[in-house]
Amino acid sequence: MADEKKILYSGMQATGKLTLGNYMGALKNWMTLNEEYECFFGVMDLHSLTVRQEPAEFRKRARDLFALYVAAGLDPEKNCIYFQSHVSSHAELSWILSCFTYMGELNRMTQFKDKAAKHADNINAGLYTYPVLMAADILLYQADVVPVGKDQLQHLEITRDIAQRFNSIYGDVFTIPEAYMGKAGAKIMSLQDPTRKMSKSDENANASVYLMDDADTVRRKFKRAVTDSEAEVRYDWDNKPGISNLMDIYGATTGKTTDEIEKEFAGKGYGDFKMAVGDAVAAMLTPMQTRFEELIKDKEYLDKMIKQNDEKAYYFSQKTLRKVKKKVGLTENIR
Ligand code: TRP
Repeated sequence: MADEKKILYSGMQATGKLTLGNYMGALKNWMTLNEEYECFFGVMDLHSLTVRQEPAEFRKRARDLFALYVAAGLDPEKNCIYFQSHVSSHAELSWILSCFTYMGELNRMTQFKDKAAKHADNINAGLYTYPVLMAADILLYQADVVPVGKDQLQHLEITRDIAQRFNSIYGDVFTIPEAYMGKAGAKIMSLQDPTRKMSKSDENANASVYLMDDADTVRRKFKRAVTDSEAEVRYDWDNKPGISNLMDIYGATTGKTTDEIEKEFAGKGYGDFKMAVGDAVAAMLTPMQTRFEELIKDKEYLDKMIKQNDEKAYYFSQKTLRKVKKKVGLTENIR
């Protein structure tokens, strides 16, 4: 029965242009899970406010991200895809949970330390309580599993701690969520420095493949990818990180195993291999880009989906929020 499915929650921030890394590491994983779970995917726009945004640009990015989730293949009639800022429950639960979170815990968050170092002129309180808002996101929907990258594991850990603390005082209010780590190989590294993660904000334009890059750009970036001085397509992260990264990308794109890839390119040069990777990735991205362009033009459909899903998210999240308010002893709102 549909309502016996476990609940999955995840989301991405609406900042920067999404890369192939975001696609392989998150979106693609979501797609493989979305039949098995009842899914909620947020456009995490409140989190994005922890860093200054240019309003018009930000507004566009958030809507684009919604459309991209759909273009990538998540059906908005089956998955609840919505804007975090449209569902007031998030901000409300975040406040309540912040009263159950210790500064000592937040002080340990490595992402806060990293971001504070990066934005030294704007170390705001939101950046500090970012993990509490993330806990609220997850706990509002009683999520069982949360697919996240390695960099978010610490935030998931604090979410569990907050939930357990709350439950130990008030009884079973929150489901304790588990992290879901995608299979190895889903982590895509920079094409120019394969020891670093492919990033939305790399200064080197050739380091990241963006989901909106056209086919020629994609092929060119793969052609220029950093490799090594051998000429053997062999999976070996210690000695051949560039080639291994390309093999991961090719494998994730085509479904081929590393063995199959090694065989396919035995005796062939890096030029052939890079061309094949570029072609495969371009062939994967092009239909998604076409679908995205169609969607973004179809204002009526997008608005309808946004409204429908915002309402659904509100409905589910309010069930939890009402319970929480009651448990902590807030008086009933009879307005
Ligand atoms: N912090 C996450 C990131 O930057 C985005 C996010 C916000 C999220 N709330 C979440 C991810 C809840 C999973 C669940 O990647």
